Amino acid sequence: MLLVGYGSIGKEIERMLVPFQVNILRVARSARTQPEVYAVSELDSLLPQVEVVVLILPFTDETRGLFGSRRLALMQQGALLVNAARGPIVQPDALVEALHSGRIRAAIDVTDPEPLPEGHPLWSCPNLLITPHIGGSSVQFTPRALRIAAGELHRYIKGEPLQNMVQMAI
Ligand SMILES: NC(=O)c1ccc[n+]([C@@H]2O[C@H](COP(=O)([O-])OP(=O)(O)OC[C@H]3O[C@@H](n4cnc5c(N)ncnc54)[C@H](OP(=O)(O)O)[C@@H]3O)[C@@H](O)[C@H]2O)c1
Repeated sequence: MLLVGYGSIGKEIERMLVPFQVNILRVARSARTQPEVYAVSELDSLLPQVEVVVLILPFTDETRGLFGSRRLALMQQGALLVNAARGPIVQPDALVEALHSGRIRAAIDVTDPEPLPEGHPLWSCPNLLITPHIGGSSVQFTPRALRIAAGELHRYIKGEPLQNMVQMAI
């Protein structure tokens, strides 16, 4: 599996997959080690190596249309593309074409446009699972969010560094 985006959510996805012994490759803006993370400039050489590609990176000027026809064609025959990030990171026309041709499968929590209007070509695509931007929703969401907020408040009051600083994205 290739994680495109190795921030807080990418790392958590990896942690949850450890018991399943999934081999994971990681991509972020810049390369680093321990664990090994490849720079996004390496993306093209990594795509043919994996059966599953998970997009979990922000939507910015750099990531708009990051996955178009050329990159989708680099994926293995029958590979699965999971977009849990933002719709415009995958070019909609290219995705529709790749799904209809049977080249890849996809599971997308986000679309472009969103919500997906009635009659949009994605609704009738084969090999596609669509969920309505609910990737963050689970019964555990509220208790976890409260735990994180309480921890941040304690750190703030004690003058300690915060763990969740907001960074600008679109
Ligand atoms: N579907 C949903 O309901 C849902 C819920 C929550 C979040 N999301 C999406 O998930 C995204 C990631 O969330 P997060 O909390 O994990 O964010 P995060 O902690 O800020 O991590 C973002 C990761 O994306 C990488 N990245 C940023 N720009 C990139 C680029 N141009 N090319 C390659 N990698 C790039 C960063 O690289 P560096 O590590 O090198 O900086 C980092 O590894 C959010 O921005 C949001 O769009 C979706």
